Amino acid sequence: MSDRATVVEVGPRDGLQNEREILPTGIKARFVEMLAESGLPVVEVTSFVSPKAVPQLADADHLIPMIRRRTGVRYPVLVPNMRGLERARAAGADAIAVFAAASETFSRRNIGMSIDDSLRGYADVAEVARGEGMWVRGYVSTAFGCPYEGDVPAAQVERVAAALAEWCDQVSIGDTIGVATPSDISAVVVRLVDRLAADRLALHLHDTRGRAIENAAAGLALGITSFDGSAAGLGGCPFAPGAPGNLATETLVEWLHREGLETGIDEGALAEAASFIRSQLLLY
Ligand code: COA
Ligand code: ZN
Repeated sequence: MSDRATVVEVGPRDGLQNEREILPTGIKARFVEMLAESGLPVVEVTSFVSPKAVPQLADADHLIPMIRRRTGVRYPVLVPNMRGLERARAAGADAIAVFAAASETFSRRNIGMSIDDSLRGYADVAEVARGEGMWVRGYVSTAFGCPYEGDVPAAQVERVAAALAEWCDQVSIGDTIGVATPSDISAVVVRLVDRLAADRLALHLHDTRGRAIENAAAGLALGITSFDGSAAGLGGCPFAPGAPGNLATETLVEWLHREGLETGIDEGALAEAASFIRSQLLLY
């Protein structure tokens, strides 16, 4: 087992997209800065999606240039199509994340496309982005269950993850609605580490049923050392009914440290970022 783990912060995007309140851009920028100052190596900042789909993040074009960036930290932004990539580039983003689903119905409801059409589109987006030196992350959402279809076959997760891995630096496997059990995680991760390297994979867990840490442990046991977290446990996904509660980054980091893994993250500074955003959400 490696003695280092990587935590990818998704609160400013996956968290805030699902909070009712719409925060001022300057508050979001400060939140991102505090997260990076706590030692998080990757902070996903926002989405360049349709502002009608996610009004909470409609200020992405203004947010990116406002952030004082820390050397060595990556600041990916979610991009659904070429239009999103162009906006991201114009704002000065240097890393992107594309998001495919493992379930057909979720794909159509979330981005209005079949899984295969989305993969074709992402291949083009990723090629352009990588050609410009951008870091590219891929998500497989609904990998352990879909709010519309229920169970999702592991073979389908493997197929989508393998497609993304062809042109993504890292692929994050998402329990979008927080329904996975540790044995579900093991069943999928065993297949994936067999096919792709464990160090190119991450787990994106929601704590809907309070099992996210057990699930992370199941991944860690199979060699996964990258995990997504959302500071203060913000948000979920507005397109996944009943999907509150991302795994809180504070809980994740505390557990990783207890397991003897180094993350480079200062728990006190992380707690300050979490309480900052909690107090701001109460104001709006
Ligand atoms: N940025 C801003 N606007 C965009 C855009 C982008 N990247 N891509 C498309 N749009 C606009 C179009 O111009 C169009 O605007 P209009 O209604 O004013 O004419 C509108 O969004 C719809 O676009 P269209 O190409 O017809 O596709 P669609 O309606 O099927 O929407 C997506 C496709 C991908 C743009 C939309 O479903 C989306 O943004 N989904 C994001 C969902 C999300 O973020 N989920 C979170 C992850 S869980
Ligand atoms: Zn999520």
